[in-house]
Amino acid sequence: MRVLVLNGVNLDVLDRRDATMYGGLSLSELETKIYAWARELGATARCRQTNNEGQYVEWCHEALEWADGVVVNPGAWSHYSYAIHDALELLEVPVVEVHLSNIAEREDWRRNSVIAPLAAARILGKGPDGYREALEFLVAK
Ligand code: DQA
Repeated sequence: MRVLVLNGVNLDVLDRRDATMYGGLSLSELETKIYAWARELGATARCRQTNNEGQYVEWCHEALEWADGVVVNPGAWSHYSYAIHDALELLEVPVVEVHLSNIAEREDWRRNSVIAPLAAARILGKGPDGYREALEFLVAK
């Protein structure tokens, strides 16, 4: 199983953000864990991160050709990007929405996710382990 893992805006500076909220790992440490978890589960992961919304949309399109499942954490775009919503809507493979923090219990503006209606599963507030859960969900599906 091939899983595309798409991290979005500001996740490149994960280790500089509030560690109590986001866990304190750097993006490369997180990606190292994701690759190891994928291997353990017999899956192949491809991790990507960008601060450019158009690039993120292009990678959603790449999933059309390559992925059997997609894990997305679009960061703040989750709350308002209809462009990312529409790109993910094209996919026929399952999409899992992951957030390191529990956006359901944070500021009002974070509680809404425009991609939530498209998600086969949503994993909130589990820190880096949320990505593992997302991979497990996709492999079990
Ligand atoms: C986040 C939550 C978003 O609200 C925030 O803008 C992020 C990270 C998370 O993983 O908890 O950048 O997606």
